[in-house]
Amino acid sequence: RKIGLIGVPQDVGASKKGVDMGPGAIRVAGVIAKLRKLGHEVKDFGTVDCYTVDQFDSRDPNNLGLNYLDIILDTCSLLKDRVELIINAGYMPLVLGGDHSISIGTLAGLKKMNQGNTGVIWIDAHGDFNTAETSPTGNIHGMPLAIATGRGEKSLLALGPSPTVSEKNCVIIAAREIDPNEAKLLKESNVTVFTMMDVMKKGIVEIASEAIKIASDGVDHVHVSFDVDSLDPKEAPGTGTQVPGGLHYREVALLLESISKCNKVSSFELVEVNPALDIQNQTAELAVELLCHAFGKEMY
Ligand code: ARG
Ligand code: MN
Ligand code: MN
Ligand code: MN
Repeated sequence: RKIGLIGVPQDVGASKKGVDMGPGAIRVAGVIAKLRKLGHEVKDFGTVDCYTVDQFDSRDPNNLGLNYLDIILDTCSLLKDRVELIINAGYMPLVLGGDHSISIGTLAGLKKMNQGNTGVIWIDAHGDFNTAETSPTGNIHGMPLAIATGRGEKSLLALGPSPTVSEKNCVIIAAREIDPNEAKLLKESNVTVFTMMDVMKKGIVEIASEAIKIASDGVDHVHVSFDVDSLDPKEAPGTGTQVPGGLHYREVALLLESISKCNKVSSFELVEVNPALDIQNQTAELAVELLCHAFGKEMY
């Protein structure tokens, strides 16, 4: 494959410092060399300019319940253009975060090419399905999947324009911490949610096959959005919103290996690595190893 890599050191969506160092940590863990070793052509499309939490006195000057909205609009718009550029150059976008709010820009960039004819596999401890009304924090990294399916703040919806994906082809895997009003929104939607309970009951083999079926049914493209907090915090401590009881390395390896065999997967995102909270860069190292499984690495 031809892979177009891009770093997005955004932290304002999480309102927490450190996740802006995520792309650097993933690069240090050898992402480019390791993907090349698997036989891929990897081109580095650089880094999107981002602001950081420290540059602002107030998170939410207009009191909208949307922290750093203006800045996130700016970066997501830059990222959107960069994703379009990568696709036009003939590469598959591989977007490295940064907090999960960057997904709004990635999916907006994919829309131009895919016309929303896109399913999504969202691997995450969270639903990221909040709006300003349902969010307990106002942090926009808890909102990107809602935006992708057409819910929430108008200015963010306008970027795509939203919906940027096909809602019935959206699947969340590894969910275990959904806010009460976010859960209501999700249940009223056509998004499929596989919680950690489902993973335990059915096993990851079955979950992987169901998820791929749902995400790819009737669409031409599947986008994979991998939030490292889907992993168990014992294995991946370098992330800002840890939730116990997550996926193990071997489960994600199997999941991503299965996903790699679906030929509709045409974009990938890896988010929420926070090296400031990590031990010896192990979360980025693990994430890169898992990424290799998503790009054809097999254990034997
Ligand atoms: N549900 C919480 C919120 O909306 C946490 C979201 C965490 N999202 C993430 N991408 N890590 O604030
Ligand atoms: Mn197409
Ligand atoms: Mn999460
Ligand atoms: Mn997330």
